[in-house]
Amino acid sequence: MPDSDKGLRGVVAVNSGITSIDGERGILRYRGYDVGDLVEHCCFEEVCFLLLYGELPGAGELATFREDLLAARTIPTEVEAVVDDSAHYARPMEAMRSMGSALSFSDPDKASNAPDANLRKATRLVSQLPTVMARYRRRYYGLEPVQPDPELDYAANFLWMLRGEMPSEEDARVLDAVSILHADHEMNASTFAARVIAATCTDMHSAIVGAIAALKGPLHGGANEWVMATLKKIGSEDKVEAWVDDVLDRGEKIPGFGHAIYKVTDPRAIILKEIGRKAFERADPIEPNWFAMTELMERRVFERKGLVPNVDLYSASVLYSLGFPIDLLTALFAANRVAGWAAHVIEQHSDNRIIRPTINYIGPPARELPVSQERA
Ligand SMILES: CC(C)(COP(=O)(O)OP(=O)(O)OC[C@H]1O[C@@H](n2cnc3c(N)ncnc32)[C@H](O)[C@@H]1OP(=O)(O)O)[C@@H](O)C(=O)NCCC(=O)NCCS
Repeated sequence: MPDSDKGLRGVVAVNSGITSIDGERGILRYRGYDVGDLVEHCCFEEVCFLLLYGELPGAGELATFREDLLAARTIPTEVEAVVDDSAHYARPMEAMRSMGSALSFSDPDKASNAPDANLRKATRLVSQLPTVMARYRRRYYGLEPVQPDPELDYAANFLWMLRGEMPSEEDARVLDAVSILHADHEMNASTFAARVIAATCTDMHSAIVGAIAALKGPLHGGANEWVMATLKKIGSEDKVEAWVDDVLDRGEKIPGFGHAIYKVTDPRAIILKEIGRKAFERADPIEPNWFAMTELMERRVFERKGLVPNVDLYSASVLYSLGFPIDLLTALFAANRVAGWAAHVIEQHSDNRIIRPTINYIGPPARELPVSQERA
């Protein structure tokens, strides 16, 4: 197998009408709409609807979709018990992985892969994962869980349940924008995992659990936690350059840089950088200034390796500044990405063939089995 084929680069795995990427020009579109335009003009709920149903919602459709999302925000009591228990011994992404499964236990549509059942399950998962995550975190800190507020939209409610205090409009808008940028990303590792699982004709929740497991890895969604932990380890702006040089001289990777598809720029990183710049300008000055450190890192990595940031570089400090602790960053990504995963599961089920690639065998040639005495 040539090295260029390793990791299936350039291999077309499925027909898909959900998300497209032009890696040469740094363009990302959901259902044909530029992601920057969606961030500017739409809310996360509209983008979820777009991903799941194929078109932006009209006013009536959005109102109904919002009602469906609201109805699903409160999680079943048996799942609450699992969340409360896991907060004592599971890491956040372990908990998310397990909750993706637990949420199927009493799901009324769990036995059906029909499009309408899949859409209902997808809608529930979009609402349930933030509730699960916020409850887990509050229990972890020994705090009472905060019940969802039906007056708040997705992003504001997420922050409310996590912090236990009403977020500012600006903070909610920042989280809304980040959530849109996280919502889907073509045939990335976790989405591919979801589609491979869905293609066996198993259920939506099983595919989502597999996707969460794939996202957890540091080369994928886990990179946002790695970025923030790195910034904290470096500690201050004056140490960034030497740190970058040291890591690159040792031939190691720096989180938040590089991408399998984008060759010039990851458009999400450009948008997130602007969101980060404005958020840090608005906020009271903090030391260390994570945004300034990230910019310095970006400059030095580009000078040394010509690598540009990916989605995780600036999202890390933006989300950390919103109050998401480091070990919750990938879980937040998962909660946002479930919309995209679910859209891909629905698409896979609608035109399915089991995904079964092959290998380039490099093991021993055919040989005789030694008789047992000789082996002994
Ligand atoms: C995203 C990623 C997995 C893509 O991997 P890939 O397409 O297989 O690219 P490779 O790992 O083969 O990298 C190609 C070259 O760039 C270098 N490179 C890629 N990302 C790098 C990084 N973050 N830091 C330093 N060097 C990097 C590799 O060392 C390699 O150099 P070489 O050709 O001299 O050996 C990879 O860039 C990475 O590990 N990034 C850090 C983790 C991360 O931020 N993940 C989130 C992705 S959204």
